[in-house]
Amino acid sequence: MEPLADHPGRPSVVAVVGSPRVAGNTSYLVDVALDELVRAGLAVEKIMLSEYRVLPCEGHDDCEDLPVCPLDDDAGAILERMYAADGLILATPVYYEDVSGQMKVFIDRNCFNNYHEVWLQARSVGLIAVAESTGVDEAVDSLRRFVALSSDKKVKPLSVTGLAYRAGDAAGNGPLIAAVRDMARAMAAALRPEAVRD
Ligand SMILES: Cc1cc2nc3c(=O)[nH]c(=O)nc-3n(C[C@H](O)[C@H](O)[C@H](O)COP(=O)(O)O)c2cc1C
Repeated sequence: MEPLADHPGRPSVVAVVGSPRVAGNTSYLVDVALDELVRAGLAVEKIMLSEYRVLPCEGHDDCEDLPVCPLDDDAGAILERMYAADGLILATPVYYEDVSGQMKVFIDRNCFNNYHEVWLQARSVGLIAVAESTGVDEAVDSLRRFVALSSDKKVKPLSVTGLAYRAGDAAGNGPLIAAVRDMARAMAAALRPEAVRD
C-alpha cells in the first residue's frame, strides 16, 4: 500500500485491521473496501496490526503529565497516520464475541492521545466485523464506542458485519462483498462527492 504522504491534497483513508491472518476474511474484506475507495480517487493505507509491535497500555495513569507515551513501539506511528486520515476503517475478526486481542490492545493505546485532547480527524468511518456465527454486533458495538470516545466530530460510523469461518470463506460470500463495496462507496461519497457518480 502506498504511504499517505505521497498523496498530498487527496482525501485519505486508513484501514486498521485486527486479524493476525494476512490472507484471512477480515483482511480480504478490507481489500475490497480499499479497492472501491481507490477507484473513487482516494489515497488509502492498510495497517495489519499483527505486522507491527503494539504493546499493551501499562495503565500508569500519567498520560496527562508526560510529553510522549513511554512505550517504545510502533503504536505512535500508526496512531499518527490514523488520527490524520480523512476516513477510517476499523476491521476485526470476532474473538469471544468481541474484537480481537490485537484490536483491543491497539484501542487502549489511544489513551495518550485522548488524554491530550487529540481526536480522530476522520469525517467518515467504516466498521467491519467477521465471525463464524456469533458476536458480530458486540464487536461492531465495541468499535463504535471506541470511535465515539476518540472523536470530537460526532461522526456516525457505517458498518458491515458478516459470517465467514475459514480463511477464504469471505471471498465466496457475494452479499457480504457487495455490502462492503456499498459501505466503501458511501464513504467515498462523503469524502470525495465530486468523484462518485452513482
Ligand atoms: C480466538 C478465536 C475466537 C473466536 N471467537 C469467535 C466467536 O466468539 N464467535 C464466532 O462466531 N467466531 C469466533 N471465531 C471465529 C472467527 O471469528 C472467524 O474464523 C473469522 O472469520 C476470522 O477472521 P479472519 O479470517 O479475518 O482472521 C473465533 C476465532 C478465534 C481464533
